[in-house]
Amino acid sequence: MQPVENQTIMITGATDGLGKKVALDLAARKAGVIIHGRNPRKGAAVVKEIREATGNPKITNYNADFSALDEVRMLAGKIRADQDRLDVLINNAGIGPGPDGSVREESKDGYELRFAVNYLAAFLLTHLLLSLLRDSAPSRIVNVASAGQQSIDFDDVMLESGYDGLRAYRQSKLALILFTFDLAAQLKDSGIMANCLHPATLMPTNMVLETDYFSGSIDAVSQGAEAVEYLAESAALDAVTEVKPALDSFGAQTPMPVAPGQ
Ligand SMILES: NC(=O)c1ccc[n+]([C@@H]2O[C@H](COP(=O)([O-])OP(=O)(O)OC[C@H]3O[C@@H](n4cnc5c(N)ncnc54)[C@H](OP(=O)(O)O)[C@@H]3O)[C@@H](O)[C@H]2O)c1
Repeated sequence: MQPVENQTIMITGATDGLGKKVALDLAARKAGVIIHGRNPRKGAAVVKEIREATGNPKITNYNADFSALDEVRMLAGKIRADQDRLDVLINNAGIGPGPDGSVREESKDGYELRFAVNYLAAFLLTHLLLSLLRDSAPSRIVNVASAGQQSIDFDDVMLESGYDGLRAYRQSKLALILFTFDLAAQLKDSGIMANCLHPATLMPTNMVLETDYFSGSIDAVSQGAEAVEYLAESAALDAVTEVKPALDSFGAQTPMPVAPGQ
């Protein structure tokens, strides 16, 4: 890969929590950082904060609400039009389980909301940016998943019966992991590495603080950021394109699958 200061790195959901910390760290290393968010005012404030903290002017903000696939398409179009290269795409944006007892919600396209935001949006964005990643190879895709997973009922993927927020979150994360397996296989020999990870357990971010499925936090946001940055930047992973097994459970109902060939 290019030296980090020559790279352009896009982080979805970088306006808060884990994504914001990763953006700050990579900006401090002088990378060009694309901050994706859904709230333009919040995005602009994060850009200003990171520029001031790091002295790095190469921080830009793009907005798209991932509960609408058309917004994902428009986002990808703008990135392709504006950017000469994309070295790393970090699919981090997500919504958590919500409070216990929450009612089922739908995306603007009529899909179960967590499945749409946490999985469908990342799937679509990745495919729409593949040509740019391919032109910038060697490049990387990092999918921020979770050790919290739930098997998917293919007769009720949209969770129309027996909805539960934790189940919705977990099945969306399993879908993202399975997507990463397929992607890694499809991109073999393309110079684009695709990996996913459980970043850390119960970091005190908005999605954890707003849920009552769990009480308290365990790991620091900086621990999760370190794990994401390792997959994004470590030279030890040049040419590694596989899914690592989870190290802990985070209430997982199914074990993190191991990559084909492992
Ligand atoms: N926290 C943990 O312990 C933990 C554990 C395992 C995995 N993870 C994963 O880590 C990733 C980051 O989560 P976090 O803990 O940092 O949570 P967070 O602080 O709630 O951040 C989530 C980010 O996603 C954005 N987002 C949410 N809904 C969106 C939508 N509809 N369209 C576009 N952007 C949207 C948020 O934007 P706003 O700033 O506008 O809200 C925010 O930037 C997630 O994929 C999560 O599943 C977290």
